[in-house]
Amino acid sequence: MTDTPKTSNAMWGGRFAAGPDAIMEAINASIGFDKRLYAQDIRGSRAHAAMLAAQGILSNSDAEAIGEGLLTVLSEIEAGDFPFSTALEDIHMNVEARLKEIIGEPAGRLHTARSRNDQVATDFRLWVRDQCDAAIEALTALIKALIVQAEAGADWVMPGFTHLQTAQPVTWGHHMMAYVEMIARDRSRFTDARARMNECPLGAAALAGTGFAIDRHMTAAALGFDRPAANSLDAVSDRDFALEFLSASSICAMHLSRLAEELVIWSSAQFRFVAMSDKWSTGSSIMPQKRNPDAAELIRAKIGRVLGATVALFTVMKGLPLAYSKDMQEDKEQVFDAADTLMLALAAMTGMVSDLTVNRARLEEAAANGFSTATDLADWLVREAGLPFRDAHHATGTLVAMAEAKGCDLPELTLAEMQSVNPVISQEIYSVLGVHNSVASRQSYGGTAPDQVRAQIARWKAALA
Ligand code: ARG
Repeated sequence: MTDTPKTSNAMWGGRFAAGPDAIMEAINASIGFDKRLYAQDIRGSRAHAAMLAAQGILSNSDAEAIGEGLLTVLSEIEAGDFPFSTALEDIHMNVEARLKEIIGEPAGRLHTARSRNDQVATDFRLWVRDQCDAAIEALTALIKALIVQAEAGADWVMPGFTHLQTAQPVTWGHHMMAYVEMIARDRSRFTDARARMNECPLGAAALAGTGFAIDRHMTAAALGFDRPAANSLDAVSDRDFALEFLSASSICAMHLSRLAEELVIWSSAQFRFVAMSDKWSTGSSIMPQKRNPDAAELIRAKIGRVLGATVALFTVMKGLPLAYSKDMQEDKEQVFDAADTLMLALAAMTGMVSDLTVNRARLEEAAANGFSTATDLADWLVREAGLPFRDAHHATGTLVAMAEAKGCDLPELTLAEMQSVNPVISQEIYSVLGVHNSVASRQSYGGTAPDQVRAQIARWKAALA
């Protein structure tokens, strides 16, 4: 249709008289993106060749020539002067074809007892495994940055919100430590996924295993896997390890998006809870006063790409019969983009959190607004006057309405006004209406009292040490 067919493919063209249509080549080739797997591909091939030699399937001299030749290919790629070829489809055949040019005939023996199906499954697992490690490291850095913020403001009061309406006072440290819990669960998801994916597909060959006397335990160990995958069909045909990485990434990106949104709200002129450093803000080309939290907004948005990649790969995988299908070549770009996006978002968030200036006075001022200690008043009526909580709730609601009508806060109501609603109220009530008393009283495990927050900070610091 488009091009005069070229000669058939040197890697698999034995039964082909003509080469592919140019558009066939364009839709089929993955080298444009899977070149990113070159280091994993070469590492896997070197382990495979060494194993073949150890098993007497390859001569030592061939295996040595292959091992050395592959290192030459590696340095050529790293130097940036490797001639990647679309006609050679993918990274696996590009590497092997170049190896042939460098070492000649022994290169053709490398693919013994192996297929591109187990090869790509191995390469990709190694790549995703590295990304899990990178995510774990980046998440640890973010946890540490959040803990620094939490420790600085373990007893700074601020409004806690539900429905984004003032609810009860909390401490800044408590709010920061909430994110520590979330981000730490994200980290544990990557740890879990890594442990589960750490089985080696190499040696599953095309789908059925091989008649050669290979040693899959040897290659698995050489590549840092815990064990060889136990079923050759499963080994070449599942991408659940990539889906787990994407799922963990999506949840993490969702958490980052929530924190980013809070930073956007908090840095607004209406809130002024925090000031974002110049390093993480931008100006407006028309409004000279503007300081826009662009990095936070972009992090808030990145979940779209990460979740999009997740949905895309689920959609690719659903309904695929065992074992390998070329559909699965569509796994890589999604995972590459999601991983790059997540790492960038994590680095930016860690920077923003580290460079954040918190306006303690403003937090405290806002903490007292919006009748934030109304629950404390109701609790006092329960504790000191023996009222059922529902009755206390009702009486407090009446007092809030009274204060609202007067245009004042709860502590500004006179004792006489308080007693008009319930005569058992005494002067003592005023002690529970202060925001510092309010947070200090919330000593339940995991509560917002500064002592509790400091205990959680200490626990996390010990865990991270
Ligand atoms: N480029 C392919 C992929 O990414 C490699 C495996 C090709 N296997 C095959 N039997 N055509 O999935």
